[in-house]
Amino acid sequence: MNGETKKKLDERYQRELYEGEFFWPDSIFKDAVVALGISILLILLATFVGVAGEPKADPSDTSYIPRPEWYFLFLFKFLALYGQIPLIGKIEWLATVLVPSIAIGLLLFLPFVDRSQDRHYAKRAMPLGVMFIMVLDILILTLISDVPTVAADDATRWVKLSASLQPYAGLVIPGAVMLALIALAKFFKTASWKWMAWTTGGGSFLMVALTLAIFAFAPTVAADESAVAETLVDQILAGQDLYSVQCVECHGDDGKVTIIEGVKGLEGKEISPINSRDVLYTINDASMAELIAYGRPDSGMNPFGKMYNPEGLSRSEIDNIVIFMRYMWDDRFELPAEALQPLFPPLADGEVPSYDVHIAPIVKRYCISCHREGKENNNYLMDTYDNVINMGDNAPNLVAGDANSILLQVIQGHEILDAQGEVIIGVMPPKSTLKPNVVEAFLRWIMAGMPRTAADAGALSVPPAP
Ligand code: HEC
Ligand code: HEC
Repeated sequence: MNGETKKKLDERYQRELYEGEFFWPDSIFKDAVVALGISILLILLATFVGVAGEPKADPSDTSYIPRPEWYFLFLFKFLALYGQIPLIGKIEWLATVLVPSIAIGLLLFLPFVDRSQDRHYAKRAMPLGVMFIMVLDILILTLISDVPTVAADDATRWVKLSASLQPYAGLVIPGAVMLALIALAKFFKTASWKWMAWTTGGGSFLMVALTLAIFAFAPTVAADESAVAETLVDQILAGQDLYSVQCVECHGDDGKVTIIEGVKGLEGKEISPINSRDVLYTINDASMAELIAYGRPDSGMNPFGKMYNPEGLSRSEIDNIVIFMRYMWDDRFELPAEALQPLFPPLADGEVPSYDVHIAPIVKRYCISCHREGKENNNYLMDTYDNVINMGDNAPNLVAGDANSILLQVIQGHEILDAQGEVIIGVMPPKSTLKPNVVEAFLRWIMAGMPRTAADAGALSVPPAP
């Protein structure tokens, strides 16, 4: 700093000192006004907007996947990348202790480290460059935080590439650029700010280019909402389908189960029928949606919400289930006539039902919630035509033309006993009785040889006598 500038600064200081305001009370007053304004804003936001609360923490729930708030996502990703550095491997202590300590330490000691009196940006290329790279890195880490760090084993080459690019975009390049800037400033006294600008610019260009590459190759995350039901009838029907798959197992197809049967771990448990006024009148829509999302883990109902279970239901899917329950069972709601679709077209005399048109919807409504992967069901999956016909510990459960087929017996209320007289297969579905037309459809279908398509069934049908 030359004498001239010094004099000017001195004069300005004297002038400010003379005309300037006092810390007490002037500055303090301004601070207090701003602080009060912010407090009022916060109180208003909390009162009228609020933050969606999560349910109470449940230590026994191992399916909960914690995610930080968005403004911490960069740190979250930063930690995840440390396991991924090629050639070095996991060095968590670096990420959890060393780097944060250095960063915080630098902030504390900044006034002692940076004694430069220059303020012009061209003379401050090193700190500005380092800060710029840090902010850019935070941005990039936040952006890529949703891309899995480890590619699945069966991922394609490109997806694997995107996983291996991440440490370079978020860790290696920013680190190298910052080190280069510091080295330039320390060891090459002659290095002009142009050198630093080139280093910073080159580094950030590489980081941004890699980020774009990551996004180009990253696996696309399936959209949250599958098909969005638009009309009320669509919503009720969508809710019914979801209820059939997710809830029938314990609550039965009509919600009136009072003692759970056929469900591992809950055998014989008493529950309130969820189609009753007791339940429907006392739980409002919002609490019902919460109940489904969070479950009742201590009573045996698992959480269904996406936040607790990655394969879980989205918000709108849960809402549709609630709408379905209201319109079906709550006498304060009137079910629109169009929503009362018959499960399958009524069968004429001599008409043979087909799997596609008649049996599949029945199985979906009454059986699939237990007879699918991961449930107790004697290895009898009912998800496809072939599985319905072939699977099961006691297969064949269906024998073409045999009215004593196991399936026909159990849906008509007869248990299957072994040689010692012990029950090996209970009645199906365990806690409700199928309507006579449903049993009739199964019976005709099996007796006619279990045709799959409508055309096959049509060929077998006997036209009614004229
Ligand atoms: C694995 C079995 C199981 C499944 C599947 C299940 N529930 Fe439950 N549900 C329970 C149990 C157990 C309770 C607790 C009953 C109690 O506390 O009395 C319960 C309670 C409820 C209640 C509250 C009843 C009350 O007394 O307050 C509702 C409503 C409910 N379930 C709806 C659903 C819906 C909707 C689904 C499907 C998304 C579902 N449940 C799936 C087992 C299950
Ligand atoms: C609440 C769950 C549940 C529902 C709903 C259910 N099942 Fe089952 N099913 C079971 C269980 C559990 C078994 C194992 C045998 C037992 O415990 O009785 C089983 C076994 C069977 C078997 C014997 C499989 C074998 O090879 O041993 C048949 C057949 C069967 N179910 C048919 C049906 C049909 C048809 C429906 C729909 C109309 C249905 N089930 C609905 C739970 C269920």
